[in-house]
Amino acid sequence: MNTARLILNGDEHELPVVVGTENEVGIDVTSLRSQTGAITIDPGFANTGSCKSAITFIDGENGILRYRGYPIEQIAASRATFIEVAYLLIYGALPTPGEMAEYSRLMTRHSFIHEDMKNFFNNFPPMTHPMAILSAMVGSLSGYYPEGTDELNILRVLAKAKTISAYAYKKSIGEPFVYPKPELSYIANILNMMFSHPSEDYEVPEVLERALRLLLILHADHEQNCSTSTVRMVGSSGAGLFSTISAGICALWGPLHGGANQEVIEMLEHIRDDGGDYKAYIEKAKDKNDPFRLMGFGHRVYKNFDPRAKILKEQADNVLKLMGMDDPLLDIARNLEDIALHDDYFIERKLYPNVDFYSGIIYKAMGIPTNMFTVMFALGRIPGWIAHYREMKADPDTRINRPRQVYVGPAERPWVRREER
Ligand code: CMC
Repeated sequence: MNTARLILNGDEHELPVVVGTENEVGIDVTSLRSQTGAITIDPGFANTGSCKSAITFIDGENGILRYRGYPIEQIAASRATFIEVAYLLIYGALPTPGEMAEYSRLMTRHSFIHEDMKNFFNNFPPMTHPMAILSAMVGSLSGYYPEGTDELNILRVLAKAKTISAYAYKKSIGEPFVYPKPELSYIANILNMMFSHPSEDYEVPEVLERALRLLLILHADHEQNCSTSTVRMVGSSGAGLFSTISAGICALWGPLHGGANQEVIEMLEHIRDDGGDYKAYIEKAKDKNDPFRLMGFGHRVYKNFDPRAKILKEQADNVLKLMGMDDPLLDIARNLEDIALHDDYFIERKLYPNVDFYSGIIYKAMGIPTNMFTVMFALGRIPGWIAHYREMKADPDTRINRPRQVYVGPAERPWVRREER
C-alpha cells in the first residue's frame, strides 16, 4: 500500500502514503492543496502527523513507550543515569563510558548561572509560580549566551535549568541559594540545591535520588505532545534554543498537560478536606453539566494504560514505605482509580490513570512542594524538547509551521461609519 485515493467533487486524486518502522501509516497530504485547492481540518491535531521522527515510539493501544527503540520498562529498571538517557534522546545512541564522563563533566561545568542573573529572582513577586520564573529565566539566558551556538547552548540549558529551578524554590522560602556541587550527580544536585542549608550538613538521601531519577527519566520524552509541538513550532520560525525551550515550559504548565500533576494533588486534598467522599467526585466527573474532570485520568494517545503510570504506581508504594509515610491521599487515589476502572463512563471512553496521577503523590512524599511538581516535569522533559529541536533543525522537510484554517466568519460587507451604528 503506497498510495491513497481521494475523491473530491467527483475528481479522483492520488496521495502518497508514508509507513513508519512500526507500520504506522500516514497519508502524505503535502500536495493536497496544490492538487485540489482543499485542505484538511483536524482540531487538536489528533489525526495529524506534523513530522517524521526517530526519537520516541508510542503505541497507545498497547501501552508501549520506547526511547530510540529501548523500552521504557528496561530503561527504568537499568542503572542508566538521567544524563545518560538525555544523551540517548538527544544524540540517538547510548554514550560510551568516555562520552559519558565528558558529558557529565561539561554538565557540571555549565550548571552555574551568571552571577548577575541571581538578581532576577529578587524582582518576582513572592507568589509567582516557579513555572513562570523558569520560563522567564530560560528565555533570559539569551541575554548572557548568544543564540546560534546550539551545541553549547544545549548543554547550558540542560545544566542551568535545574539550578534556576532550585533557586526559584529557595527564593520562595527565603533561604540562601546553594551552588551546584561538582561531585554530585545531576539528580543529587537538584535535591542538594533545594534541600541543603548552609547551617546544616546535608546528604542527599539515596531513596530520594533514586525516586527523582526514575521520575525524570519517565518524563524525558513523549513524542509530539503539546509542549514538544510548541517547541517544534516556535523553533521552525528560526527562534533560538532558549526562546524555544522557554515556550515549551509555558505550554507544559497548562493543567491539561504537565500542570496536571499539581492539579491531581490539589484535587485529592480537596476531596479529603471535603469529607473524603470520592464517589461523589466520580459522579461530578461524569456529569456533562459540571466542568470538573478527574485530573490525572485520560490521555490523547494511551487508550489502554499509560506504561509510565504503571511503573510509578508500584514506586509510589515503595517510596512511601521507605519514607515511612502513610499518606491518606494515596488511599483516596487508589479508591478513585478502582472505581473509575470499573465504571462504564471511564471504560467506554478508555480513560485510565496517566503519569500525573501517581507522580504527584511521590513528589509529595519526597517533600517537594506542590507548586514545584510541574517544574520537575519540565526538568525531565528538557532533553526531549532539545532532541526534537535538533531533529527539526536537521530535517530537510522542515518549513516554518504555518497551519491553515477554514474561515467561517462574515462574508464581505461594507464598513459602517461610527455615527450610523
Ligand atoms: N475526567 C472526566 N472525563 C474525561 C476526562 C477526565 N479526566 N478526560 C476525558 N474525559 C471525557 C471527555 O469529557 C470526553 O467525553 P465525551 O466523549 O462524552 O464528550 C471524552 O472523555 C474524551 O475526552 P477529550 O477531552 O476529547 O480527550 P482529549 O484526548 O482531547 O484529552 C486529556 C486528553 C488528557 C487532555 C483529557 O483526558 C483530560 O483533560 N485529562 C485530565 C487532565 C490530565 O490528567 N492531563 C495529563 C495528561 S498526561 C501527561 C501530559 O500530557 O502532560
